[in-house]
Amino acid sequence: MVNLREVNHSNWMACIELDVHDFQRPFVNPNIFSLAESYAHSDVNSAEAEKYYRCIPKAIYNDDELIGFTLIAYEKECDYDDTPAYEIYRLMIDKKYQQQGYGKEAVKQIIDYIKSFPYGKVEHIYACWHPENQASQKLCRAQGFEIVGKDDDGAIIGKLAI
Ligand SMILES: CC(C)(COP(=O)(O)OP(=O)(O)OC[C@H]1O[C@@H](n2cnc3c(N)ncnc32)[C@H](O)[C@@H]1OP(=O)(O)O)[C@@H](O)C(=O)NCCC(=O)NCCS
Repeated sequence: MVNLREVNHSNWMACIELDVHDFQRPFVNPNIFSLAESYAHSDVNSAEAEKYYRCIPKAIYNDDELIGFTLIAYEKECDYDDTPAYEIYRLMIDKKYQQQGYGKEAVKQIIDYIKSFPYGKVEHIYACWHPENQASQKLCRAQGFEIVGKDDDGAIIGKLAI
């Protein structure tokens, strides 16, 4: 069963080693980048995490096997509508575990986690994806995300009311 876990002493290096296919590199930053971003937007810098956005990195497991990584963010004033929101900043399933339904289960787990409102209550979740990223679009649309526009980089913005 797919489950989300903290990134910690035991798994942070394995998270960095997770990888995607070459054609997917334009779709997602490397996990090492996301973990560095998470450090800068954490309790280490809580004033800035409050002011800009707070990162919530999670390792994705199937049972006890590490299969992917996600970075969720909480923004007090989301760029898209100035209200508090969570956004799925990154999601990746390692190339050897893709197309087995894990991505779909991971998105469900992420939504359930966000609904626990770990940093504050919200009414919406956002996710953005590259216009050529068929898999992401399918995943998000299947969970009810509605397309509400494009960001400055041309990425499609999906919004889910919760
Ligand atoms: C997006 C991603 C997380 C999906 O993970 P996954 O485990 O392969 O997804 P699933 O097996 O649950 O498949 C979900 C849907 O996407 C489709 N899909 C998966 N890979 C696909 C691909 N390469 N091309 C087209 N469709 C694809 C599946 O067929 C399925 O569609 P269905 O519900 O109609 O059957 C994975 O492809 C990935 O890590 N990609 C690279 C990083 C990325 O693009 N992240 C998202 C942006 S931050």
